[in-house]
Amino acid sequence: MARILITSAIPYINGIKHLGNLVGSQLPADLFARFNRAMGHEVMFICATDEHGTPAELAAAKAGKPVEDYCAEMHQVQADIAQGFRLSFDHFGRSSSQRNHRLTQHFAGKLAENGLIAEVSEKQVFSIDDNRFLPDRYITGTCPNCGYESARGDQCENCTKQLDPTDLINPRSSISGSTNLEVRETKHLYLKQRALKDKLEAWINSKTDWPILTTSIAKKWLNDGDGLQDRGITRDLYWGIPVKKGDQPWPGMEGKVFYVWFDAPIEYIAGTAEWADANGHDDAAWERWWRTDKGASDVTYYQFMGKDNVPFHTLSFPATILGSGEPWKLVDYLKSFNYLNYDGGQFSTSQGRGVFMDQALSILPADYWRWWLLSHAPESSDSEFTWENFQTSVNKDLADVLGNLVSRVTKFAVSKFGNEVPAGGSFGPLETALIADLGARIADYTRFMQDMEVRKAASELRAIWVIGNEYLQAAAPWSVVKTDPEQAQAIVRLALNLIRVYAILSAPFIPDAAATMMKAVGSDDWAWPSDIHAAMRTLAPGHAFEVPENLFRKITDEERADWQAKFSGVRT
Ligand code: MF3
Ligand code: ZN
Repeated sequence: MARILITSAIPYINGIKHLGNLVGSQLPADLFARFNRAMGHEVMFICATDEHGTPAELAAAKAGKPVEDYCAEMHQVQADIAQGFRLSFDHFGRSSSQRNHRLTQHFAGKLAENGLIAEVSEKQVFSIDDNRFLPDRYITGTCPNCGYESARGDQCENCTKQLDPTDLINPRSSISGSTNLEVRETKHLYLKQRALKDKLEAWINSKTDWPILTTSIAKKWLNDGDGLQDRGITRDLYWGIPVKKGDQPWPGMEGKVFYVWFDAPIEYIAGTAEWADANGHDDAAWERWWRTDKGASDVTYYQFMGKDNVPFHTLSFPATILGSGEPWKLVDYLKSFNYLNYDGGQFSTSQGRGVFMDQALSILPADYWRWWLLSHAPESSDSEFTWENFQTSVNKDLADVLGNLVSRVTKFAVSKFGNEVPAGGSFGPLETALIADLGARIADYTRFMQDMEVRKAASELRAIWVIGNEYLQAAAPWSVVKTDPEQAQAIVRLALNLIRVYAILSAPFIPDAAATMMKAVGSDDWAWPSDIHAAMRTLAPGHAFEVPENLFRKITDEERADWQAKFSGVRT
C-alpha cells in the first residue's frame, strides 16, 4: 500500500468556475484520487478556495459585502458545487485560514533568515479617494501609443503595447473612477528567486518522467530572456495575510499583506493541517504527509493544474520550499492540462460565456458531465466542448452502451430466472474469450489510470463496456433460453458479474452510476478486479440482485438546441 498525496490547483474565490476550470484541475485530480483509493492506497486529496488578492476585494465590493463575509459565503457555494460534482476531497480548505496565515508567515520568516528576502522601495500609484494603492491593472487611461481611452496601466488592450501606469494620459482609478491619484513611495519584499536558480534547475532536470507540457513551460521560464526574476511577494492591500517574520512583526511592513500567489500554494500544506484540525487529529497527522523528517519520505505527491499555473508550481512554490531550508515535501509528479474551449470560442468568466458548474448541475447530474469532460480532457492539445459532441457521447457511451447493458441484463434475468443469480450451465468458449479480453484490457486501463493518461483511460473503459455488449449480442441469451435454458443461466450469471466489475472500473469516472450498479447486484465488494477470473465469479448462484432505476437518459435534439441557445451569450 502506497501513500499518495494529491492536490488540485485551488480555485479563485470570486465567482463560480466554468467547466474548463473544472476539467483542468479538480476533476482529473478527483479521478486519480478515486482510482488510488480503489487500489487500496492511502490517499490524501486536498483542495481549497484561493481567497486573497484584488479580484476578491473587488468582487466583494461589487456584491456590497465585507470581503470576509463574501469569501465565507462563496467558499460555501463552491464547496456545495464541488459536492454536487462528487469531488472527493479529504478537505476543501480556505487560503484565508489561520493555518495558512501561520504557515505563510513561517515560510517568509525562514526565507528571510536564509538571506533570500530583499526589501525594495518602489513608487506606486495611490488613489486618495479610494484610500489605497492601485495595482497597475486597476488604473485606466488613454494609451499614449494609439489613443485608446480605456487602456490599462499594465497594457493597452487595443494596440497591445506594454505600459507603465505613469505612461497613461488622464489616468483614473478603475475602482472608483477617481482621478485624484498620486505617486507614493512604498517598500516591498522580494523573494530572491535568482539565488535559487541552480537548485531549481537541478530539481527540474531530475524530473525526467514529467510530461513535456510541464517541463517545457518550466524550462522556458527558467532560461528564456530575462529568465527567473526576483519576485515581489507583498502588496499594499487590506485583504490578505499580514506580513510577519514567523510570529514576529516585520518592521516597515505594517499594513501590508503577502501577495496572493505567495500564500496560495502554501494552502496545500495548510489545507492538510485544516483537515487534521477538522477531524480532531494532532499535528503529526498532517506532518506525516508533508515533512520528510516526520514520515513523508514515503509519500508520492501529485499536483493537477491548468498550464497557466505551471510556472508557479515549478518555480515559485518550489523556490519557497527549497529556500526555507526545511524538509518539506516537493511535488513528485505534476500533471498539467491545456484549455477546453467552448462551442467555437473560449469559455469566458468575464463575459459569462460557456457552461458554469452550477448551471451544468442544474441541467444534468454530475456523471454526465464527468464522463464527457474526462473523456475529452485537454491533454495533448486544447479540446472543445460542443453540444453535439456532448449529446453524442452521452447518448452512445452512457445510455446505449453502458446503461442499456445493465438494464437489459437485469430485466431479462429477473423475468426468466427470478431475482437470484442462476446456477445452471457453465462458461463456454464465448465466456472464456470475453474473460481473457477483459483481463488484458483491465491491465491496460489500470496502467493508463496510474499514469494519469485520462483520455486513454476513458477510451479503454469505453472499450471494456463495448466488449460486454458485443458478448451479449453474440451469446444472445434471449434466444438460447428457448433451446438451452441451462446455458442461458450461465450467460446471465456472467453478465451479472460483469455489471459488478463495471461498477468498480467505472466508479472513478461516474461514481453515482457505479454505486447504483453495485447496489443493484447486491454487493459492496469494491476490490479492484486484478484477478478477472475470480472477479467474474464473485456473485455466486443464489445471490440476490434487483433491476436498478434507469442509469442514464438520452439527450433529445430539442434539449440540445435549447441549451446551445441558452449558454451562448452573457450570463445573467
Ligand atoms: N487560483 C489559481 C487559479 O485558478 C490557482 C492557484 S493554485 C495554488 O489559477 F497553487 F496557488 F494554490
Ligand atoms: Zn494603445
